[in-house]
Amino acid sequence: MDIFIPYLFFLLLLPFSLYLILFFHKDDSDDASNLPPGSKGWPILGENVDLGLLGLSKFVRDRMEKYSHDVFQTSLLGEKVMIFCGAQGNKIIFTSDVAPWLPLSLQKVLLPDALAMFRNFQYDTLKPEALRQYIPVMDEMARGQLAGGGWRPNSVVKAQPLINKYTFELSCRLFLNLVDPERLRKLSDPFAKMRNGLLSLPIDLPGTAFHRAIKAGNMVRGEMLSIVGARRKEMNMMVEENKGGEGRDLLSKMLLLTDEDGKPVSDKKIANCFVSLLLASYDSTAAALTSVVYFLAQLPHVYELVLKEQMAIAKSKAPGELLTWQDVENMKYSWNVARETLRLVPPSPGTFREATTDITFAGYTIPTGMKALWTPHSSHSNPDYFPEPDKFDPSRFDGSGPPPYTFVPFGGGPRMCPGRVYAKLAILVLMHNLVTSFRLERAIPHEKMVLQVAPLPTHGLQLYLKPHYPNSSPASH
Ligand code: HEM
Repeated sequence: MDIFIPYLFFLLLLPFSLYLILFFHKDDSDDASNLPPGSKGWPILGENVDLGLLGLSKFVRDRMEKYSHDVFQTSLLGEKVMIFCGAQGNKIIFTSDVAPWLPLSLQKVLLPDALAMFRNFQYDTLKPEALRQYIPVMDEMARGQLAGGGWRPNSVVKAQPLINKYTFELSCRLFLNLVDPERLRKLSDPFAKMRNGLLSLPIDLPGTAFHRAIKAGNMVRGEMLSIVGARRKEMNMMVEENKGGEGRDLLSKMLLLTDEDGKPVSDKKIANCFVSLLLASYDSTAAALTSVVYFLAQLPHVYELVLKEQMAIAKSKAPGELLTWQDVENMKYSWNVARETLRLVPPSPGTFREATTDITFAGYTIPTGMKALWTPHSSHSNPDYFPEPDKFDPSRFDGSGPPPYTFVPFGGGPRMCPGRVYAKLAILVLMHNLVTSFRLERAIPHEKMVLQVAPLPTHGLQLYLKPHYPNSSPASH
């Protein structure tokens, strides 16, 4: 319901604003240009309502049919936007002179400079050498969550909130060493509200999702600032007492950073950076995992093959021995299942760019400064690249897999997601623990997925969990 409130508000204002806009404003900027075809939709509203009603995948497919399979124009979130489609469109975006751009709603809620700092940090913490050490921690946390959390055997559970909890706590533990349940709760409650308003219309009035998201974003940043401040104090004390203490996690490493003048980077900047990083790492990974579990519970033949692979790995380990990098490397079929899930239900709808030079593509000219959007949906559902695109078929990823620029859940080029290996590990480690503990059955056989910011099951993904080992606690085998 939340997502409709901004639209209702606009509908009330519509007659008056239409009069003013149509009277004072005629956008004839396209007349002399060579822009791609498309529709600007309603004044101010643009095509946001269509997008909200159709979902991104259908919105894009319909317009590709109507206007162009390569690139079309629309108006979203208050901006004229060119949507690049297919493998060629993806390639142009990933290889041209374009800069990242955030719509106003994201800028206001998130702060635009936040990720730039993390990028400059070279993603040390996301490189394979660092990630290797994360695997046992991930495994331990997954086991802990299955044994002590809400994953009750022989009962119906809502898997999606449990997966969210695992993913959120994992990021907090690995990046911030944050494990205290009260602090985690203080961070995760407003965090959920913040993310719900990220792609809302930027109307900052009481009652709108956007207004709530800004308020929640301030709370999240405030809580994060206090976490960063506490750690700074702790580190200063340890240095005074010659106890070392630096560099144990990403937060400690960031606190040692200096700016161009050689001064320590401010706690506020670091806190903002972590809020963005949590959002990037938690949201997409949780959505991907939820979709993976959704398909595992729906497709018994796929589940059986995953179980066979995961049981072979479990049996090769000593009792209680944690997973290693090599074990994850051996989860080849399971990773194909995860990739096929990312193809069918990409967690990220794509990202915006701004042209920094004129771009010529498919006979059109996209001028400097114009906003652009690439979206995985346009190539992921194309039968030329993926025959029978609606069919769940992990064998598409056998051998060298799909052609370049067709499978792009993590984007591509210089801005490609730096967390993709982390995501792979987090997904496979939980998959291993879940599948080797339980048979998964849908409690609501036809529970659907709906697209909000990310794809979500309508009833929280209700599953019946049947343990393989009725007399032992899950994940203790
Ligand atoms: C299945 C999980 C994930 C998916 C599908 C995903 C997808 C994406 C996509 C599509 C982008 C934009 C790429 C572009 O604009 O070309 C992105 C950017 C980013 N992702 Fe991920 N991501 C996932 C998990 C993660 C994780 C686990 C982390 C961190 C640990 C992370 C950190 C980031 C960051 C920092 C950026 C911004 C990169 C930049 O602007 O240079 N992501 N991700």
